[in-house]
Amino acid sequence: MQADIHGTGSMWSAIGPRRALGSHGGGARTRAAGVMLTALALGGCALHGHQSALDPAGPQSGRIVSLWWFLIIVSAIGWLAVVVTLAVGAVRAERSPDSPERGTSPEVEHRLHRRIAWAVAATVVILFVFMVLDFRTGAALTRAPAVQPLEIDIVGHQWWWEARYADSSPQKSVTTANELHIPVGRPVVLQLRSSDVIHSIWIPNLNGKKDLIPGYVRSVWFQADTPGVYRGQCAEFCGDQHAKMGLVIFADPPQKFAQWLAAEQSPASPPSASMAERGQAVFLAGSCPLCHRIAGTPAQGGNGPDLTHFASRTTIAAGMLPNSRGVLAGWVLNAQQFKPGVKMPPNPMGSADLQALLVYLEQLR
Ligand code: CUA
Repeated sequence: MQADIHGTGSMWSAIGPRRALGSHGGGARTRAAGVMLTALALGGCALHGHQSALDPAGPQSGRIVSLWWFLIIVSAIGWLAVVVTLAVGAVRAERSPDSPERGTSPEVEHRLHRRIAWAVAATVVILFVFMVLDFRTGAALTRAPAVQPLEIDIVGHQWWWEARYADSSPQKSVTTANELHIPVGRPVVLQLRSSDVIHSIWIPNLNGKKDLIPGYVRSVWFQADTPGVYRGQCAEFCGDQHAKMGLVIFADPPQKFAQWLAAEQSPASPPSASMAERGQAVFLAGSCPLCHRIAGTPAQGGNGPDLTHFASRTTIAAGMLPNSRGVLAGWVLNAQQFKPGVKMPPNPMGSADLQALLVYLEQLR
Protein backbone atom coordinates (compact mmCIF):
# COMPACT_ATOMS: atom_id res chain seq x y z
CA MET A 1 0.00 0.00 0.00
CA GLN A 2 2.93 2.31 0.64
CA ALA A 3 3.40 2.70 -3.10
CA ASP A 4 -0.24 3.64 -3.63
CA ILE A 5 -0.02 6.34 -1.04
CA HIS A 6 3.13 7.86 -2.54
CA GLY A 7 1.58 7.79 -5.98
CA THR A 8 -1.55 9.58 -4.89
CA GLY A 9 0.48 12.00 -2.81
CA SER A 10 2.63 13.12 -5.73
CA MET A 11 -0.47 13.54 -7.86
CA TRP A 12 -2.19 15.53 -5.16
CA SER A 13 0.70 17.88 -4.51
CA ALA A 14 1.08 18.51 -8.24
CA ILE A 15 -2.59 19.29 -8.73
CA GLY A 16 -2.71 21.38 -5.56
CA PRO A 17 -1.23 24.70 -6.81
CA ARG A 18 -4.17 25.43 -9.10
CA ARG A 19 -3.29 29.13 -9.22
CA ALA A 20 -0.66 28.36 -11.83
CA LEU A 21 -3.39 27.21 -14.18
CA GLY A 22 -5.59 30.24 -13.85
CA SER A 23 -3.64 33.42 -13.36
CA HIS A 24 -0.45 33.10 -15.41
CA GLY A 25 0.21 33.04 -19.12
CA GLY A 26 0.35 30.17 -21.59
CA GLY A 27 3.89 29.18 -20.50
CA ALA A 28 2.84 28.65 -16.90
CA ARG A 29 -0.25 26.79 -18.08
CA THR A 30 1.83 24.47 -20.28
CA ARG A 31 4.30 23.90 -17.44
CA ALA A 32 1.49 23.15 -14.99
CA ALA A 33 -0.10 20.75 -17.50
CA GLY A 34 3.31 19.11 -17.98
CA VAL A 35 3.78 18.71 -14.23
CA MET A 36 0.28 17.24 -13.94
CA LEU A 37 0.84 14.76 -16.75
CA THR A 38 4.21 13.72 -15.32
CA ALA A 39 2.66 13.34 -11.89
CA LEU A 40 -0.21 11.32 -13.31
CA ALA A 41 2.26 9.09 -15.17
CA LEU A 42 4.38 8.65 -12.04
CA GLY A 43 1.26 8.04 -9.98
CA GLY A 44 0.24 5.36 -12.44
CA CYS A 45 3.66 3.69 -12.18
CA ALA A 46 3.62 3.86 -8.40
CA LEU A 47 0.29 2.03 -8.30
CA HIS A 48 2.03 -1.10 -9.60
CA GLY A 49 -0.90 -1.89 -11.86
CA HIS A 50 -3.25 -2.24 -8.91
CA GLN A 51 -5.60 0.40 -10.22
CA SER A 52 -5.83 -0.05 -13.95
CA ALA A 53 -8.77 -0.67 -16.23
CA LEU A 54 -6.26 -2.13 -18.71
CA ASP A 55 -5.15 -4.89 -16.33
CA PRO A 56 -8.35 -6.93 -15.86
CA ALA A 57 -8.57 -9.34 -12.93
CA GLY A 58 -12.03 -10.76 -13.66
CA PRO A 59 -14.54 -11.49 -16.43
CA GLN A 60 -16.37 -8.12 -16.27
CA SER A 61 -13.24 -6.00 -16.58
CA GLY A 62 -12.01 -8.47 -19.22
CA ARG A 63 -15.05 -7.70 -21.38
CA ILE A 64 -14.68 -3.98 -20.85
CA VAL A 65 -11.01 -4.01 -21.81
CA SER A 66 -11.74 -6.09 -24.96
CA LEU A 67 -14.35 -3.52 -26.02
CA TRP A 68 -11.92 -0.70 -25.22
CA TRP A 69 -9.13 -2.19 -27.36
CA PHE A 70 -11.51 -2.84 -30.27
CA LEU A 71 -12.84 0.75 -30.14
CA ILE A 72 -9.41 2.32 -29.80
CA ILE A 73 -7.83 0.25 -32.61
CA VAL A 74 -10.70 0.80 -35.10
CA SER A 75 -10.85 4.51 -34.19
CA ALA A 76 -7.08 4.84 -34.61
CA ILE A 77 -7.28 3.19 -38.06
CA GLY A 78 -10.14 5.57 -39.01
CA TRP A 79 -8.17 8.57 -37.77
CA LEU A 80 -5.08 7.47 -39.71
CA ALA A 81 -7.16 7.01 -42.88
CA VAL A 82 -8.54 10.56 -42.55
CA VAL A 83 -5.09 12.06 -41.93
CA VAL A 84 -3.49 10.16 -44.84
CA THR A 85 -6.34 11.17 -47.20
CA LEU A 86 -5.96 14.81 -46.16
CA ALA A 87 -2.18 14.68 -46.63
CA VAL A 88 -2.48 13.05 -50.07
CA GLY A 89 -5.07 15.67 -51.12
CA ALA A 90 -2.88 18.52 -49.88
CA VAL A 91 0.21 17.17 -51.71
CA ARG A 92 -1.76 16.68 -54.96
CA ALA A 93 -3.25 20.18 -54.79
CA GLU A 94 0.24 21.56 -54.24
CA ARG A 95 1.68 19.72 -57.26
CA SER A 96 -0.98 20.45 -59.86
CA PRO A 97 -1.24 24.12 -60.81
CA ASP A 98 -4.57 25.89 -60.38
CA SER A 99 -6.88 24.98 -63.21
CA PRO A 100 -10.40 26.41 -63.47
CA GLU A 101 -11.86 22.99 -64.52
CA ARG A 102 -10.41 21.16 -61.53
CA GLY A 103 -13.18 19.67 -59.44
CA THR A 104 -15.91 21.11 -61.59
CA SER A 105 -16.12 18.60 -64.46
CA PRO A 106 -19.14 16.28 -64.09
CA GLU A 107 -16.97 13.09 -63.95
CA VAL A 108 -14.77 14.56 -61.20
CA GLU A 109 -17.84 15.73 -59.26
CA HIS A 110 -19.45 12.32 -59.64
CA ARG A 111 -16.30 10.51 -58.48
CA LEU A 112 -15.99 12.79 -55.44
CA HIS A 113 -19.64 12.30 -54.50
CA ARG A 114 -19.22 8.54 -54.71
CA ARG A 115 -16.16 8.62 -52.46
CA ILE A 116 -17.93 10.79 -49.90
CA ALA A 117 -20.93 8.42 -49.96
CA TRP A 118 -18.61 5.45 -49.32
CA ALA A 119 -16.88 7.26 -46.47
CA VAL A 120 -20.24 8.16 -44.86
CA ALA A 121 -21.47 4.57 -45.27
CA ALA A 122 -18.27 3.18 -43.71
CA THR A 123 -18.64 5.60 -40.76
CA VAL A 124 -22.27 4.59 -40.19
CA VAL A 125 -21.38 0.88 -40.33
CA ILE A 126 -18.46 1.33 -37.91
CA LEU A 127 -20.62 3.33 -35.46
CA PHE A 128 -23.37 0.73 -35.73
CA VAL A 129 -20.90 -2.09 -34.94
CA PHE A 130 -19.63 -0.05 -31.97
CA MET A 131 -23.20 0.39 -30.72
CA VAL A 132 -24.05 -3.33 -31.01
CA LEU A 133 -20.83 -4.37 -29.25
CA ASP A 134 -21.46 -1.75 -26.54
CA PHE A 135 -25.00 -3.10 -25.92
CA ARG A 136 -23.71 -6.67 -25.89
CA THR A 137 -21.00 -5.80 -23.36
CA GLY A 138 -23.52 -3.92 -21.21
CA ALA A 139 -25.93 -6.88 -21.29
CA ALA A 140 -23.15 -9.34 -20.38
CA LEU A 141 -22.05 -7.17 -17.45
CA THR A 142 -25.53 -7.00 -15.93
CA ARG A 143 -26.47 -10.68 -16.47
CA ALA A 144 -27.10 -12.28 -13.06
CA PRO A 145 -24.28 -14.48 -11.75
CA ALA A 146 -24.71 -18.23 -12.29
CA VAL A 147 -23.64 -19.27 -8.80
CA GLN A 148 -24.62 -18.03 -5.36
CA PRO A 149 -22.76 -14.72 -4.91
CA LEU A 150 -21.25 -13.19 -1.81
CA GLU A 151 -23.33 -10.12 -0.91
CA ILE A 152 -21.81 -6.99 0.58
CA ASP A 153 -23.84 -3.93 1.51
CA ILE A 154 -21.99 -0.74 0.68
CA VAL A 155 -22.96 2.71 1.92
CA GLY A 156 -21.26 5.76 0.46
CA HIS A 157 -20.55 8.59 2.89
CA GLN A 158 -18.75 11.89 2.48
CA TRP A 159 -15.93 10.68 2.15
CA TRP A 160 -15.59 7.04 3.00
CA TRP A 161 -17.14 3.64 2.31
CA GLU A 162 -19.05 1.58 4.83
CA ALA A 163 -19.18 -2.15 4.10
CA ARG A 164 -21.42 -4.75 5.76
CA TYR A 165 -21.19 -8.51 5.35
CA ALA A 166 -24.61 -9.63 6.56
CA ASP A 167 -25.10 -13.03 8.19
CA SER A 168 -28.28 -14.92 9.11
CA SER A 169 -27.30 -14.57 12.74
CA PRO A 170 -26.95 -10.86 13.50
CA GLN A 171 -23.96 -11.30 15.86
CA LYS A 172 -22.02 -12.67 12.93
CA SER A 173 -22.68 -9.69 10.68
CA VAL A 174 -19.48 -7.79 9.98
CA THR A 175 -19.24 -4.05 9.51
CA THR A 176 -16.04 -2.54 8.27
CA ALA A 177 -14.88 0.44 6.25
CA ASN A 178 -12.84 1.29 3.19
CA GLU A 179 -11.24 -2.14 2.80
CA LEU A 180 -13.12 -5.04 1.25
CA HIS A 181 -12.03 -8.65 1.37
CA ILE A 182 -13.47 -10.93 -1.29
CA PRO A 183 -12.84 -14.55 -2.28
CA VAL A 184 -11.39 -15.17 -5.75
CA GLY A 185 -13.46 -17.24 -8.16
CA ARG A 186 -16.81 -16.36 -6.58
CA PRO A 187 -19.21 -13.67 -7.76
CA VAL A 188 -19.57 -10.70 -5.42
CA VAL A 189 -22.71 -8.55 -5.44
CA LEU A 190 -22.43 -5.07 -3.98
CA GLN A 191 -25.76 -3.59 -2.79
CA LEU A 192 -25.19 0.13 -3.06
CA ARG A 193 -26.72 2.91 -0.98
CA SER A 194 -25.71 6.45 -0.18
CA SER A 195 -26.20 8.31 3.08
CA ASP A 196 -25.81 11.79 1.64
CA VAL A 197 -24.96 12.69 -1.98
CA ILE A 198 -24.32 10.77 -5.19
CA HIS A 199 -21.11 8.74 -5.16
CA SER A 200 -19.87 6.24 -7.71
CA ILE A 201 -17.95 3.08 -6.98
CA TRP A 202 -15.21 2.19 -9.44
CA ILE A 203 -12.76 -0.68 -9.08
CA PRO A 204 -11.16 -0.54 -12.54
CA ASN A 205 -9.43 -3.94 -12.35
CA LEU A 206 -12.78 -5.62 -11.65
CA ASN A 207 -15.65 -3.71 -13.29
CA GLY A 208 -16.93 -0.37 -14.52
CA LYS A 209 -18.54 2.39 -12.46
CA LYS A 210 -21.88 2.32 -10.67
CA ASP A 211 -23.50 5.31 -9.01
CA LEU A 212 -24.73 5.26 -5.40
CA ILE A 213 -27.86 7.41 -5.35
CA PRO A 214 -29.55 8.60 -2.13
CA GLY A 215 -32.95 6.95 -1.65
CA TYR A 216 -32.24 4.05 -4.03
CA VAL A 217 -30.67 0.62 -3.65
CA ARG A 218 -28.67 -0.34 -6.70
CA SER A 219 -26.41 -3.29 -7.26
CA VAL A 220 -23.38 -4.25 -9.23
CA TRP A 221 -21.53 -7.52 -9.35
CA PHE A 222 -18.08 -8.64 -10.31
CA GLN A 223 -15.74 -11.52 -9.82
CA ALA A 224 -12.00 -11.53 -9.17
CA ASP A 225 -10.18 -14.45 -10.77
CA THR A 226 -6.68 -13.24 -9.98
CA PRO A 227 -5.72 -12.85 -6.31
CA GLY A 228 -4.31 -9.44 -5.52
CA VAL A 229 -4.85 -6.07 -3.94
CA TYR A 230 -6.85 -3.67 -6.08
CA ARG A 231 -7.65 -0.05 -5.55
CA GLY A 232 -11.04 1.53 -6.06
CA GLN A 233 -12.03 5.14 -6.19
CA CYS A 234 -15.18 7.25 -5.92
CA ALA A 235 -15.84 8.32 -9.49
CA GLU A 236 -18.55 10.94 -9.01
CA PHE A 237 -17.72 14.39 -7.63
CA CYS A 238 -19.18 14.35 -4.13
CA GLY A 239 -17.67 17.34 -2.38
CA ASP A 240 -14.31 18.71 -1.25
CA GLN A 241 -12.62 15.40 -0.54
CA HIS A 242 -14.05 13.39 -3.43
CA ALA A 243 -10.53 12.68 -4.72
CA LYS A 244 -9.62 11.21 -1.33
CA MET A 245 -12.46 8.68 -1.25
CA GLY A 246 -10.60 5.52 -2.11
CA LEU A 247 -11.08 1.89 -1.16
CA VAL A 248 -8.86 -1.17 -1.13
CA ILE A 249 -10.01 -4.60 -2.28
CA PHE A 250 -8.18 -7.71 -1.14
CA ALA A 251 -9.04 -10.59 -3.49
CA ASP A 252 -7.94 -13.59 -1.45
CA PRO A 253 -7.98 -17.36 -2.02
CA PRO A 254 -11.25 -18.72 -0.47
CA GLN A 255 -9.52 -20.17 2.60
CA LYS A 256 -7.73 -16.92 3.41
CA PHE A 257 -11.00 -15.02 2.93
CA ALA A 258 -12.80 -17.40 5.31
CA GLN A 259 -10.08 -16.80 7.92
CA TRP A 260 -10.47 -13.04 7.56
CA LEU A 261 -14.26 -13.26 7.86
CA ALA A 262 -14.04 -15.48 10.96
CA ALA A 263 -11.62 -13.04 12.59
CA GLU A 264 -13.93 -10.11 11.83
CA GLN A 265 -16.92 -12.00 13.23
CA SER A 266 -15.18 -12.51 16.57
CA PRO A 267 -15.67 -9.84 19.25
CA ALA A 268 -13.21 -6.96 19.60
CA SER A 269 -10.10 -7.72 21.65
CA PRO A 270 -10.60 -6.35 25.16
CA PRO A 271 -7.77 -4.14 26.47
CA SER A 272 -5.03 -6.53 27.56
CA ALA A 273 -2.73 -4.16 29.47
CA SER A 274 -3.15 -1.12 31.67
CA MET A 275 -2.01 1.18 28.86
CA ALA A 276 -4.72 -0.16 26.54
CA GLU A 277 -7.27 0.06 29.36
CA ARG A 278 -6.43 3.72 29.79
CA GLY A 279 -6.70 4.12 26.02
CA GLN A 280 -10.18 2.62 26.04
CA ALA A 281 -11.18 5.01 28.83
CA VAL A 282 -9.86 7.94 26.79
CA PHE A 283 -11.82 6.70 23.77
CA LEU A 284 -15.06 6.28 25.70
CA ALA A 285 -14.75 9.56 27.62
CA GLY A 286 -14.10 11.67 24.53
CA SER A 287 -16.38 12.41 21.61
CA CYS A 288 -15.27 9.25 19.70
CA PRO A 289 -18.29 7.06 20.67
CA LEU A 290 -20.68 9.64 19.20
CA CYS A 291 -19.58 8.57 15.72
CA HIS A 292 -17.66 5.31 16.05
CA ARG A 293 -18.71 1.83 17.09
CA ILE A 294 -16.55 -0.77 18.81
CA ALA A 295 -18.60 -3.93 19.33
CA GLY A 296 -18.77 -5.06 22.96
CA THR A 297 -18.22 -1.55 24.32
CA PRO A 298 -20.65 1.33 24.96
CA ALA A 299 -19.32 2.99 21.78
CA GLN A 300 -22.13 2.47 19.27
CA GLY A 301 -21.99 5.54 17.02
CA GLY A 302 -22.89 5.04 13.38
CA ASN A 303 -21.70 8.22 11.64
CA GLY A 304 -18.08 7.17 11.22
CA PRO A 305 -16.24 3.94 10.40
CA ASP A 306 -16.80 0.93 12.67
CA LEU A 307 -13.57 0.44 14.61
CA THR A 308 -14.22 -3.04 16.08
CA HIS A 309 -11.32 -4.52 14.10
CA PHE A 310 -9.66 -1.27 13.20
CA ALA A 311 -6.09 -2.60 13.51
CA SER A 312 -6.74 -5.26 10.87
CA ARG A 313 -7.02 -2.52 8.26
CA THR A 314 -3.93 -1.38 6.40
CA THR A 315 -5.08 2.16 5.68
CA ILE A 316 -7.06 4.99 7.25
CA ALA A 317 -8.89 8.00 5.79
CA ALA A 318 -10.58 5.98 2.99
CA GLY A 319 -7.47 4.34 1.62
CA MET A 320 -5.43 7.54 1.58
CA LEU A 321 -3.01 7.09 4.50
CA PRO A 322 -1.14 4.11 5.95
CA ASN A 323 -2.51 2.78 9.23
CA SER A 324 0.69 3.49 11.16
CA ARG A 325 1.09 4.96 14.62
CA GLY A 326 2.52 8.33 13.58
CA VAL A 327 -0.08 8.98 10.89
CA LEU A 328 -2.88 7.81 13.17
CA ALA A 329 -1.70 10.17 15.92
CA GLY A 330 -1.82 13.09 13.49
CA TRP A 331 -5.25 11.99 12.24
CA VAL A 332 -6.73 11.69 15.76
CA LEU A 333 -5.38 15.08 16.81
CA ASN A 334 -6.49 16.94 13.69
CA ALA A 335 -7.98 15.02 10.78
CA GLN A 336 -8.78 18.36 9.14
CA GLN A 337 -5.16 18.88 8.16
CA PHE A 338 -5.32 15.71 6.02
CA LYS A 339 -8.87 15.98 4.70
CA PRO A 340 -10.28 19.48 5.23
CA GLY A 341 -14.05 19.29 5.64
CA VAL A 342 -14.10 15.70 6.92
CA LYS A 343 -16.66 15.21 9.72
CA MET A 344 -14.05 14.12 12.30
CA PRO A 345 -13.35 17.11 14.57
CA PRO A 346 -9.92 17.92 16.04
CA ASN A 347 -9.29 16.04 19.32
CA PRO A 348 -6.70 17.92 21.33
CA MET A 349 -5.30 15.75 24.15
CA GLY A 350 -2.18 15.26 26.25
CA SER A 351 0.58 13.03 24.95
CA ALA A 352 0.07 10.32 27.62
CA ASP A 353 -3.63 10.03 26.74
CA LEU A 354 -2.78 9.99 23.03
CA GLN A 355 -0.20 7.23 23.46
CA ALA A 356 -2.67 5.16 25.47
CA LEU A 357 -5.40 5.70 22.87
CA LEU A 358 -3.06 4.61 20.08
CA VAL A 359 -2.09 1.46 21.99
CA TYR A 360 -5.76 0.64 22.46
CA LEU A 361 -6.64 1.21 18.80
CA GLU A 362 -3.63 -0.84 17.64
CA GLN A 363 -4.83 -3.89 19.54
CA LEU A 364 -8.29 -3.89 17.96
CA ARG A 365 -7.41 -6.80 15.67
CU1 CUA B 1 -17.77 10.05 -3.13
CU2 CUA B 1 -16.82 11.24 -4.95
